[in-house]
Amino acid sequence: MPLDALAEEQAAGTSTGFSRDALAGLRLFTGRANCVLCHRGPLLSDQQFHNIGLGETDRLAALSVEQWVADVAGRAKGQIEVRASEFNCRAGVWGDNGGMSARERVESESCREQEFADIENYEAVGAFKTPTLRNVALTAPYFHDGRASSLDDVIDHYDKLAGDPVIGHREESLRRLDLTSREKTQFKAFLESLTSPVRDLGE
Ligand code: HEC
Repeated sequence: MPLDALAEEQAAGTSTGFSRDALAGLRLFTGRANCVLCHRGPLLSDQQFHNIGLGETDRLAALSVEQWVADVAGRAKGQIEVRASEFNCRAGVWGDNGGMSARERVESESCREQEFADIENYEAVGAFKTPTLRNVALTAPYFHDGRASSLDDVIDHYDKLAGDPVIGHREESLRRLDLTSREKTQFKAFLESLTSPVRDLGE
């Protein structure tokens, strides 16, 4: 079903829910393909970091070493930067933050996580934060460097897991799916069904 029609139905309250294809795609998403391992909850993101094993590209190959690392290292680089940053949670620049004292802030769970994060942790290399899939049909291009220009490209990545990861190691939970073209269509219909009209909440 075209997205506009779906949106109209939703706005009119006459929606019958998912199309058949989208439902089949949802079953794949929660079943055989197990995308829900990472894309789950209200945002369809576990808010964690994973290396999904994206490979080298011509664009990456042409970069300087520094720029290449900046593009592919992911959380490993972020953790080092955050620890060195004058704006991290331990910094004195925050003043009174929503009633939280400096001590409370430094002792908060997220700040302690930052302080004690194992920056040699191999799991952080090439790991990026799981993005939300809400309205994903509207937010091309995809992946942190925009290498996938369409949802078809994204589905192809998870389908074939072609090539070696450019850095680190691909999470072992990811397995080649070898989808039929019908299943690819269903996957896409499900991802498109995550588009929702912006709700007017009034005043
Ligand atoms: C191991 C965790 C994990 C699993 C399993 C997983 N994803 Fe992802 N997904 C990610 C991460 C991390 C990214 C971001 C990667 C990046 O930006 O380089 C991502 C990115 C995406 C994107 C691009 C979103 C954007 O805005 O760029 C889509 C679409 C997507 N995943 C769909 C799926 C589908 C469909 C499946 C099942 C076949 C799946 N994912 C399985 C972790 C996972």
